[in-house]
Order: sequence, then C-alpha cells, then structure tokens
Amino acid sequence: MSEYVVSMSNIVKTFGTVQAVRHGEFNLKKGEIHSLIGENGAGKSTMMKLLYGMYPINSGEIIVKGKKMDRLDPKTAIEHGIGMVHQEFMLVEELTVLENIILGFEPTKGLTIDFDSARKEVQKYIDQYDMEVQLDKKISQISVGEAQRVEIIKTLMRGADVIILDEPTAVLTPQEARRLFEILKNLREDGKSLVFISHKLDEVMEISNRISVMRQGQYMGTVNKEETSPLDLTKRMIGREVFLNIDKSYGKAGKTVLEVKDVWVSSNKETSKIRGMSLHVNEGEIVGIAGIDGNGQSELIEAITGIRKVEKGSVILNGKDITNFNPKKVRDAGLAHIPEDRNKRGLNRTMSIVDNLVAVQLDEAPFSKGMMVQKADQDKYAEEKVKQFDIRPTDYNLPTSALSGGNAQKVVVAREVSMGKPLLIASQPTRGVDVGAIEIIRNTLEKAKKEGAGVLLVSAELEEIISLSDRIVVIHEGKITGELMASEANENNLGLLMMGGKESK
Ligand SMILES: Nc1ncnc2c1ncn2[C@@H]1O[C@H](COP(=O)(O)OP(=O)(O)OP(=O)(O)O)[C@@H](O)[C@H]1O
Ligand SMILES: [Mg+2]
Repeated sequence: MSEYVVSMSNIVKTFGTVQAVRHGEFNLKKGEIHSLIGENGAGKSTMMKLLYGMYPINSGEIIVKGKKMDRLDPKTAIEHGIGMVHQEFMLVEELTVLENIILGFEPTKGLTIDFDSARKEVQKYIDQYDMEVQLDKKISQISVGEAQRVEIIKTLMRGADVIILDEPTAVLTPQEARRLFEILKNLREDGKSLVFISHKLDEVMEISNRISVMRQGQYMGTVNKEETSPLDLTKRMIGREVFLNIDKSYGKAGKTVLEVKDVWVSSNKETSKIRGMSLHVNEGEIVGIAGIDGNGQSELIEAITGIRKVEKGSVILNGKDITNFNPKKVRDAGLAHIPEDRNKRGLNRTMSIVDNLVAVQLDEAPFSKGMMVQKADQDKYAEEKVKQFDIRPTDYNLPTSALSGGNAQKVVVAREVSMGKPLLIASQPTRGVDVGAIEIIRNTLEKAKKEGAGVLLVSAELEEIISLSDRIVVIHEGKITGELMASEANENNLGLLMMGGKESK
C-alpha cells in the first residue's frame, strides 16, 4: 500500500463554463498536517469538496486508503474516515452542543437516543484532545471558537481520521487560533491526517509538515515546511511579491460623521452586552475598534446599522439622530457597510455579480432613469469594478453563489466603498481574502478616507487595526477601556486594554 491515506491525481472539475480545477494533485500522508494554499479562486475549497464527495469529479482519480473511489458522496466519504469542517458551520443554533453532536446519528428503530452514553463518548474526545466545550449550552450562546471545536468533535464521533479544515482560523481571534493549533497538534500526534486551508502564511509555516500550492486551478507543487518561507510561498502562489505597507496619509479630520452617545444594547451573551459606549468618527479618518471577538463589537455595529435595538443612548449619523431607524433608513442617511457575515447580510447569493454590485443603489442614476433600468450603464460599472477589485471570474453575469469565498467578499467591498457615503463601516473587511486582495482592499479603505469618508473599522487582526487606523478605540466586555492614536499603539498596550486592564502611563 502506498504511504498516502489520500491520493488525488489528474483532477479536473468544471462548473458550467468555469474551470474550477484544471489539474489538481493532492497527497496526504498519515499523521501529517498538510496545508493547501493559493489565491482566492485557486480551487482549494473545490479540491477538498471533491474529496468529501460534495460534487463528482469530471475526470481524475481519488484513492482513499488504497481504495479507488469510483463514486464519492459525503456518506461514502464519512464511511472511509473523511471529515470536513466547513468555513460556514453547519450547526443548529437553537439546539445544545450535545444535541448538535448527536444529530444525524439516527437512533436504531425502536430505540431512543441514549444521551448518557453519547455524553460519555463525547467527553472522551474532549479529554483526549483537550478541547473545551460546554455540552449543555446552546450553539447561540457559545463563541465561534467553541463552535468550531464542536464541528471537530462531530467529525471524530463519525470516525474521521482524515480531517479537512477549510480556513478554520479566518473566523478566529489570535487567541482562539492558538488553542485550535494545540488541538490540531494533538490530533496529529494521535495519528490523524489533517488538511489545513489558510491565507495566513505565518500559520501555515507554524503548523504544517508539507504545503501544496494551487494557482488558477492548477497544482503548482508541494514543499516540505523546512524548505520554504513565506516569501517563497507567496511567489509560488501569485508569481510576484506583495507589499502590505500602506502609505498612511494624515489628512485633516473634518466634521463628525458618526456619534455614538452612551449607547446600551442587550445581547444573549454576557460579555457582549454594550454597557454605555460613546465614540465618534470624523470625516477623513479611520477609527479602529480593537477587542477580543465577542466583546460587543458585533452588537455595537448592529445597533448603529439598525439591526439591533438601542435600549438607551443615541446614534447620530451625519447630523441626524438615527437611533433605532431601520437598516434601509440608516443607509439612506449616509451609511455604507461591509458586514461581518457576507453570506447572511452581504450578498444575495442567487443574484448575479452585477446585480449585487448595483443592488443598493438601483433606484439612483445612472442605473435607472425614471422607471427604466439602464442595463448598459450597469454592465459598464460592473466591468470597471471587476477590474478594479480583481474579482474572478470576470464574467459579471455569474451568480455570486459561484464565487469562491474571497471573491464574494471582494464584491461586497467593491459595492460598499464605491458608493461614496459619508460613513463607511468595515467589519472584518479582509477576512478570507488572499494577500493580493488584502492589498487592494486596504488601499481602497485608505482612499475612501482620503476622499473624506469617515471609516469605522472592526477587525480581529491587530496588525490591520494598527496599520490602517488613525485612532484606535479598545473595547472589553461592552465597555471602552481606552483610546489611543495609532502612532502610540502596539500589540502590548492594545493587548492589555483588550483584556480589560487599564493602560499605565
Ligand atoms: N458551485 C460553483 N459553481 C460555479 N463556480 C464555482 C462553484 N464553486 C466554485 N466555483 C468557481 O471555482 C473556482 C475555484 O473556487 P474555490 O472556491 O475552490 O476557490 P478557493 O481556492 O477556495 O478560493 P478562496 O480562497 O476565495 O476561498 C472559482 O473561480 C469559483 O468561482
Ligand atoms: Mg475557499
């Protein structure tokens, strides 16, 4: 038998006219962590979904533990020990952790689910791999990191010894990512074979034994971790070097575009209730919100944008009191918003790229005149945006459901920053996009600011907050623990404030 538990060769996969994988190769050794990297749209998720049997291959060969797979579907994949943790979790919010883990194991006829023995078995994994989860909490009450551990336990309960993780750290804070890495290392030590997809090369360098690279649907080779470097990997992925330093401009900040005054917001999680928060954003400045995920940043943004109720206090946008306006009215008052969750709120997945790009300004010239929709103008606009933001594939008539994760994000960013609204809220704007696209998106935010917009930036990446912001507001458990000019901020003083500590001067 070969040394590989999984071996994929000469893989071709097309979706209609899109060649998602032109020539895919992937081999996985027992007991290794094998990273799969490449630009947005390179075909990483598709390769792994093929291995998990979510779509059939057009041609090629998949061998799992010595057995050639003629027809692969998720059920067969699971039977052969393959598990996948998707980027969008597949958990039922209103059920408990334990119920979610058991879900899908149909009880044998006449028997009821034996919760006690299930609990025991789950506990075994929790102890063995040091994965902290609270079995009786509802999914809606736990953090993203914990939900991810639940997904991993689910795959283990189904007998997986090959576990695919598609961008698991994209949604995690640096602290949670560290915990995940410990778990992955434990799993590896136990002989499990892991596939790790990520855009973060420092993580890839830390965790991998081997690294495979894809570029535009093509396999570009595999290297041992010891033989490579982040620079080398970047060149393999895109064929050029990327510079993430932006030339920060220090324009004069103008009048206030957003004012949050002593706002209180409730939440079902204790740490994310907003308890009296005040902050402001001026024209021509970027204000960054730093904080450990789940400390109220999402709730604050939801309250400003009209999705969550403000219980006390007020929100002033462009001189107008918009407290508890509905989302449409907040937008009309001058808000552009790159939401944290592009799938839930950012895009209409069944609509085309062009329709999504013009969606929020459909009733404005030049896209419509009177009742007439100006298709030619829309097309011209879409063509421009596709080029400017390097959206791939470039056919703007494709539905956005056909886009890779990072390219879908670029569509949302393109639409929102192009509107020229006085306030731009950017929540995790570079989550899940490749280094080339990070460069484009960061420069675009900087440009919006130069053109006079006030930008409120929420990001789990401290490095992003520090390099883009003019001013940084730090929050902890729904309260502001400090405010710093970006020029005086570093990981240490921000980190301290993020833990709730006071800055000592
Ligand atoms: N269901 C689908 N229908 C049509 N096209 C698709 C579908 N899924 C993926 N594609 C296309 O296949 C290509 C590869 O997509 P894939 O999701 O595998 O990329 P990726 O490497 O995972 O990128 P990212 O880093 O952005 O997640 C892209 O051009 C994408 O638009
Ligand atoms: Mg992907």
